[in-house]
Parts: sequence; structure tokens; C-alpha cells
Amino acid sequence: MSSDLHSALLTWYRCHKRELPWRGERDPYKVLLSEVLLQQTRAGQAIPYYHRFLQRFPTLEALAQAEQEAVLQVWQGCGYYTRARNLHRLAQQVVAAEGTLPTTVQGLRALPGIGPYTAAAVASIAFGEPVAAVDGNVRRVLSRLFAWEHPTPKQVQETADALLSATNAHPGDWNQALMELGATICTPQNPGCGGCPVAAFCRGKASPGRYPA
Ligand code: ADE
Repeated sequence: MSSDLHSALLTWYRCHKRELPWRGERDPYKVLLSEVLLQQTRAGQAIPYYHRFLQRFPTLEALAQAEQEAVLQVWQGCGYYTRARNLHRLAQQVVAAEGTLPTTVQGLRALPGIGPYTAAAVASIAFGEPVAAVDGNVRRVLSRLFAWEHPTPKQVQETADALLSATNAHPGDWNQALMELGATICTPQNPGCGGCPVAAFCRGKASPGRYPA
């Protein structure tokens, strides 16, 4: 089952998504790296770090075996170095234990540096788990779409989960379509409502500034 809203957003995503090196990627290690980078770094700035990191540490095993100094060196200039330290610890922990990344939100959440958003993003994109990944972009998109001036985290998560469960699309594609809309059209300032694929369904489009950015 899939509504007109779902079809409109998914069609737009397939045609207009930015070409980013992690787009279409299902390798859990690469998806994890991209999501950790995107926690605090814009996509354009993250691209060279993504390539450099994978060139130096092509697998979780290679990362686990590296010296922390080498990991921090590759991260140099990207900022928020705790991310790099956590990723390194994560690799060592996983490789020492079961050897492969956990495949569920619950398993991923137990790892260093992995919060609810990153766990849901990796579980949905790499493993197809039907969980909504709610970041600031998704919260803003849903707040405008449903005209919520004061959304609660529970309200946002429940609605995001309900929307996800109403599509046949790959859960990771649906999540990324919502994020992409927030990153490129439903932006905090001056949203591009004229080019928005779901404007027809949006209760907030007359005054997007009334909703949390
Ligand atoms: N922000 C964080 N992760 C993202 C993704 N996979 N696609 C678009 N924006 C994102």
C-alpha cells in the first residue's frame, strides 16, 4: 500500500536526489561511515573524507587494526574528532566480538557513538529494517507537512514510523527521500515550496516559518 504522497516523494527522490558517493550503498560499514560523517558535516564537505577514509581503511577489520593516531589523521580537518575515536572503538569492539556489525537498531544502539538516529539510518539503509530515521531534516519536513507548531519527539517518531510502514519502498530509500527533501527543498530558511513534490499535501506551506526549523 502506498499513498499519493508516498509516490510523489519517491518519484521525486529517484529523479532528483543528489549524486553522493554513499547513495545506493548497502555495505553496512560504508553506510555507517557516511552517517557518522553526516552527523555533523554537510554532504559536500563529507565527500572527500568519505573517500579518503575508505581508501585508508577499506573494511571494518582494517579500521580495527589501525592505530588511533592514523584514524585521527585521516579525520583531520573534518572536526568533531570524538566521532573518529568512537568509530575506531566501535570497529575494535565489533571485530573482537561477533566480527560483523549488528543488523538491528537495538544492536547498533549499543555501540559507541551510535544514537537513535544513526542506528535507524544504518538499520534501514543497510539492512532494510522498517524503522524511521528521524533527524532535524525529517522533523522539520513533518512539522510543516502536518502544521505542527510544537511537535513532541514521540509525535514525530510515531508519525514517521506510520508513514514508513505505509510504503512498499525500501525503508532506507524512504528515509533518505524524506531527509533529502529536508536538505534540498524543505530547508530551514526560504524553502522551495514551488518545486516541492509534496506541496499538494502540505498543511504548512502558506507559512513554513511558523513551524520549527
Ligand atoms: N543526512 C544524513 N544522512 C543522510 C542521507 N543518507 N541522505 C540525505 N541526507 C542525510
